[in-house]
Amino acid sequence: MAHTRGGRESLRRFPEDFRFGVSTAAYQIEGAWNEGGKTWSMWDYLVRTDPGHIADRSNGDIAGNSYNLYERDIQMIKELGVDIYRFSISWPRLLPTGRPNYINPEGLAYYNKLIDLLIENGITPFVTMYHWDLPQNLNEQGGWLNPEIMNWFGDYARVLYQQFGDRVKHWLTINEPYVHCSRGYGRGNHAPRVRSPGIGYYECGRNILLAHARAYHIYRESFRATQNGQVAVVLSAEWGLPSTDSVDDAEAVLDSIAFHFDQYAHPVLSESGNYPQRLIDRVAAASANQGLSSSRLRPFSPEEVNYIRGTTDFLALNHYSTDIVYRNNSLIGQFEVPSYSDDKFVGTYKDPSWPTSSSPWIREYGPGFHQLLVYIKNTYNNPTIYITENGVSSTTGLNDDPRVSYYRNYLTAVLDAIDDGVNIRGYCAWSLMDNFEWAFGYTMRFGLYEIDMEDPARPRTPRKSAFVYQHIVSNRVIDYTYNPDPYTQSITGNAFGMSASILFTLTIAMFNLNL
Ligand code: GAL
Repeated sequence: MAHTRGGRESLRRFPEDFRFGVSTAAYQIEGAWNEGGKTWSMWDYLVRTDPGHIADRSNGDIAGNSYNLYERDIQMIKELGVDIYRFSISWPRLLPTGRPNYINPEGLAYYNKLIDLLIENGITPFVTMYHWDLPQNLNEQGGWLNPEIMNWFGDYARVLYQQFGDRVKHWLTINEPYVHCSRGYGRGNHAPRVRSPGIGYYECGRNILLAHARAYHIYRESFRATQNGQVAVVLSAEWGLPSTDSVDDAEAVLDSIAFHFDQYAHPVLSESGNYPQRLIDRVAAASANQGLSSSRLRPFSPEEVNYIRGTTDFLALNHYSTDIVYRNNSLIGQFEVPSYSDDKFVGTYKDPSWPTSSSPWIREYGPGFHQLLVYIKNTYNNPTIYITENGVSSTTGLNDDPRVSYYRNYLTAVLDAIDDGVNIRGYCAWSLMDNFEWAFGYTMRFGLYEIDMEDPARPRTPRKSAFVYQHIVSNRVIDYTYNPDPYTQSITGNAFGMSASILFTLTIAMFNLNL
């Protein structure tokens, strides 16, 4: 059911057990790149050997310095009033060789302090095991292109369960296989900058699915009985709308979803397992046209299909934007051959009327999020979903009205999806604070809190969107009329810290006492 903004919205409440949170990732916030016994990740290697590749020639050496400022981070989470913090563990900080032969005591102590303090403050840790910062040592041995990584990742996951599983009950294995493989091993604009869009991209995705499944099975076999937690896959999904009502454009929409979300969702979440047939058929046909004797999308064996199928306790979903999608003759000759883009053979653009931001790939279109969530419900038998990333970038400054609008409209889409029976249990905003936005460096700011990246103290200040998010979380409704001034208001110590019901109770109490 569609809902309009304004008055009626304020009547719709998030369910009492719906949970709110915020997300970050280790390389984007921690800094301390060579402190405390940590070794290089492949991002440390990229920014040192190829600094010109980052838009502002910056790096994550210091970033938000959360390695040293994590107590302030937790204070911010408390200020927002949310109770989930999704962060990631830096593999080379915990295991400097990448392998479990040596656990770095300082890395271990850091994550223990962080997890303990979160729990003391009533905040549930959702821990991403891997958010793209592979130990450089393992990268030099082939990284995600080496099938051995299934064992490397499994051994790492086992250490995580052993060390933190008594307190961490929500594990997210590998962040966004599509984005990691397409950027890192396809287009080559993220670490490790491998350019292999027709082969490496698919091999990376295949190995990630197997490594994810290995981590899941290890938990199920050796830890679940005693630790009683959950392990989930983290997938990105954008939505697509057909450019025209032609059959070709309708097919193009299905292929755009098959080559991004379904490529990873179908093997894990569907009843039959395996890649979606659409993907198998298109890559096989393109490979045959190229004179190859086998598909560049190497098939899973029946044993592998079984091994991967069903390996998620919920779906951790990251979503940012919607594309308008088409397929026509204008695409001929547009794509590198061979490549996953050529295999998919889909053109995209954004509707120019959708609000834009500082990141060209994100334009605000809340209804697309609603449609995506309903698609997932219908296609994958209504899985439990936690939204683990959603947000938009701004420039510096505290008045981030485009982000305020984005969050209100995307959370409205969440309410619409809940009304339609989609099983969404929680929502994490990306991101708690400004951070190193990969190849864009600090030119794009995703934080509810701004960080002054010029100031060695890395002070954090709430933006307007932080006040608005806090207001939504504490009242459990989206109030489009609330209009805070981040330059004059404080996020603590006034009405913003109190829910409407507490304020109401206090007012009545004061009235009764004749105060
Ligand atoms: C995601 C990624 C995050 C962050 C975000 C904003 O794909 O997982 O690390 O960069 O995009 O662009």
